[in-house]
Amino acid sequence: MNIETFRYDNRIVRAFAIATLVWAVVGFLAGLLAAVQLFWPAANLSLQYVTFGRLRPLHTNAVIFAFVGNGMFTGIYYSLQRLCKARMFSDKLSWINFWGWNAIIVAAALTLPFGITTSKEYAELEWPVDIAIALIWVAFTINLIGTILKRREKHLYVAIWFYIATALTVAMLHIVNSLAIPAGIFKSYSIFAGVQDALVQWWYAHNAVAFFLTTPYLGLMYYFLPKAANRPVFSYRLSIIHFWALIFIYIWAGPHHLLYTSLPDWAQSLGMVFSVMLVAPSWGGMLNGLLTLRGAWDKVRQEPMLKFMVVAVTAYGMATLEGPLLSIKSVNSLSHYTDWTVAHVHTGALGWNGFLTFSMLYWLFPKMWNTKLYSIKLANWHFWLGLLGIMFYAIPMYWAGIAQGLMWKNGVTTPMGFKESALGCSKS
Ligand code: HEM
Ligand code: HEM
Repeated sequence: MNIETFRYDNRIVRAFAIATLVWAVVGFLAGLLAAVQLFWPAANLSLQYVTFGRLRPLHTNAVIFAFVGNGMFTGIYYSLQRLCKARMFSDKLSWINFWGWNAIIVAAALTLPFGITTSKEYAELEWPVDIAIALIWVAFTINLIGTILKRREKHLYVAIWFYIATALTVAMLHIVNSLAIPAGIFKSYSIFAGVQDALVQWWYAHNAVAFFLTTPYLGLMYYFLPKAANRPVFSYRLSIIHFWALIFIYIWAGPHHLLYTSLPDWAQSLGMVFSVMLVAPSWGGMLNGLLTLRGAWDKVRQEPMLKFMVVAVTAYGMATLEGPLLSIKSVNSLSHYTDWTVAHVHTGALGWNGFLTFSMLYWLFPKMWNTKLYSIKLANWHFWLGLLGIMFYAIPMYWAGIAQGLMWKNGVTTPMGFKESALGCSKS
């Protein structure tokens, strides 16, 4: 009898997991230093390389593309092999993905402090790095699709659908938004101009939230949560509706970042309407996650992994209720330009992405190194400190943001529809 044998590639999972932790430290420290400079600007030590304007994109790139990016690859490389009952399509492509992605992050860490930037938010890296990102992303996509094609399991579990949507959409967003004419090795000009440039940029940036910070992590939720709870997903049918509704609606919501700008009014309203509709699939996903824990809540008390997961899914629910609210024009006229937006960002980014990453890592590390967690007590400390940290971060900023917005609004309306406040600033 011919017995077929195969082995999963765990080395690549371990490499991405370690990189996730390393970049977490870098990204969080950059965020901390940026935060300190907001109340004590002298913390930049008079060094142009670490002034707030340069540190902020360094922080966002490090946490989004380095921390969440490596976290996403860790989870995908682990779960995809198991869901497909197959080793990755090509080990070579896996390592090109790992070294290429991390080299790109090093390039970001070197260029941004020198002020080399396209100035497009979340797409600051200059054209040579953009080309490298496109190539490495294609390598990842080929590896993903190749593994799916050679799978031994007929059914494509919903997590894989989320991974496919991530791979295809991020490639499209990145390539279109990065189209530029080079003017030297470190300088380029976008091929789009004026309001088209703004629309393409925010179509990209909003969908970076959707397809980089959300869809891959929903795939990870659908894999790791039922695994750790040892329960099937609450409703598989709901997960499929969640998937199609989410990806169809998300792609249209970008204009909510350009409310009260020169973007045509109908496009702003379109962005607002699609954003409001987004609450339905988002909450469908959140409830599907939380209800999977029915009858398993005793495990949440004992298992640090599940504690982190519950907070992550709840934070996802909070951010996706707040987001549609922020995209209503009248609410946005209060929140835009205030710390409210930053609080919203970190409820999503720290609560959802941060906690889901740590949940997954607490699950994976003992498995990948064939050992026990060093200390459950420390993990619990981590959980409570992290949770309190997010609350101490976000709640005062909501408070401050609303106060800021009300102060901005406390002014006189000009014929342009802008308000000139006593502070000498303007906001409609
Ligand atoms: C220790 C944790 C963190 C600290 C101390 C921190 C701090 C900061 C600070 C000070 C800013 C600038 C706010 C401003 O311009 O007024 C910022 C912005 C930002 N951070 Fe963080 N952050 C942390 C974690 C994260 C994580 C984990 C993510 C994503 C996964 C993230 C994503 C962002 C984004 C996207 C922005 C830009 C927000 C905007 O433009 O409205 N941060 N962060
Ligand atoms: C239904 C889902 C969501 C909707 C409709 C939504 C909507 C919004 C709106 C209206 C803004 C403010 C735009 C402005 O005034 O400039 C915003 C900002 C932002 N949101 Fe969300 N949000 C959602 C979920 C999330 C999640 C889950 C995350 C993170 C994981 C996130 C990350 C961000 C970021 C990073 C920004 C700041 C963008 C900037 O740099 O200006 N959002 N969102």
